[in-house]
Amino acid sequence: LDIVGFIHRKADGRAHGPGEIATFVAELVRGGVADYQASAWLMAVKLNGLSEAETVELTRAMAASGRRINWKVRGAPPTVDKHSTGGEGDKVTLVLVPMLAAAGLRVPTIAGRALGFTGGTIDKLESIPGFRTALSEPAFRRVVQMAGGAIVAQSAHVAPADGILYGLRDATATVESIPLITASIVSKKAAEGVEHIVYDVKTGSGAFMPEPAQAEKLARSLVSVSRGLGIDARALVTNMYEPLGFAAGNSVEVAEAAAILRGEAEGRSGAVLDLSLELGAELMAMSGVERNRAAAKRRLSETVASGRAFDQFEQMVKAQGGSTGWMKKPWSLLRPHRTHLVKAVRSGWLRWKAAWKFGEALRLLGAGRARRTDRILPEAGALVRAGDGDRVTKGDVLIEFHYGDSSRLRQALDTLDGAFEISSGPLKPKPLVLKRIR
Ligand code: URA
Repeated sequence: LDIVGFIHRKADGRAHGPGEIATFVAELVRGGVADYQASAWLMAVKLNGLSEAETVELTRAMAASGRRINWKVRGAPPTVDKHSTGGEGDKVTLVLVPMLAAAGLRVPTIAGRALGFTGGTIDKLESIPGFRTALSEPAFRRVVQMAGGAIVAQSAHVAPADGILYGLRDATATVESIPLITASIVSKKAAEGVEHIVYDVKTGSGAFMPEPAQAEKLARSLVSVSRGLGIDARALVTNMYEPLGFAAGNSVEVAEAAAILRGEAEGRSGAVLDLSLELGAELMAMSGVERNRAAAKRRLSETVASGRAFDQFEQMVKAQGGSTGWMKKPWSLLRPHRTHLVKAVRSGWLRWKAAWKFGEALRLLGAGRARRTDRILPEAGALVRAGDGDRVTKGDVLIEFHYGDSSRLRQALDTLDGAFEISSGPLKPKPLVLKRIR
């Protein structure tokens, strides 16, 4: 590979020839490309973009850079997964994996730890005592076989090229590039070996892509590149103008998810169940196990009403080494913590105006991380008692923060300033699903 010529080409805004990007990725993983050269190419891509064909080639090469799992066995149920770009209170994976497993699909999920407002799905699950997220491939297969689904952490063997490139992007201001984000996400899903995937791309003031037009562009890119790799894909662009559901944090979100699966979704938890049904119905329809989304939603709802989804969740937790003693009373999972109540200073209608400030407050309390090495404090989190358009009365509790370390509270509350407002007239909340990309 003429690495300087390769960088030149993209820096000049020209297209790479077929096979060039694949050779670059193979060289990179072999250790034959210096960090400064790979970084220069990443910046050229951020500035000049990649065509769809180039993005597909990059994604395929990244997926092929490590181990790939093959789930295909004759007569086995379809293998499905969902991926979310992440947001405040997004515990949908914890609810949806058991529901889909109870509906007869196989859901081998590889999840992340994520930087940002709250932990990733893996951090959330690790608030269950004993729960193991680092499983060998045979152990991963055993849990999927036994419980229909498993949620494990990405190992260094899955798409190692992504680990290298992501580390460089993080340090060179090249994370925000739709082709690079697409290749990063889809390569891991391709290595995981799923047949059907639905992407949940969040937009709004609490999302990583706050502009709806950018979120839609990412959603379209995820779908077309997945298809380019032979994966059946759809995407929903969904509401992150306000936190999703009732709980935001780590153990609080696991508790909320278990409560929902026990059929105890009420108030703000209803939105988590609704979004799980929306995403799940797409997968059921795509994989052909149901004729249409309405029938799929009925079948998925039934897995909760019958208790089968909860049983499936309990089996998965047990199979991954987690304690299950807390599951009959989900909120007993919470560690000892102090509480701070944020109350309405006047009466009116609530509007989340800058939801990212709430996420930042949670991160400062220890529910999320700014750097990969930051430690998550499992007791940190919040219960959100009011959403967009809710009528509130002066003195009502709007948010209940949970924390252990008092020195963090002041800064968190200062950061929250301006996250929401109380207006004097009613307002209509935005819908949960803003766009469907099929
Ligand atoms: N999530 C990923 O896995 N990769 C990105 O580049 C951005 C978000």
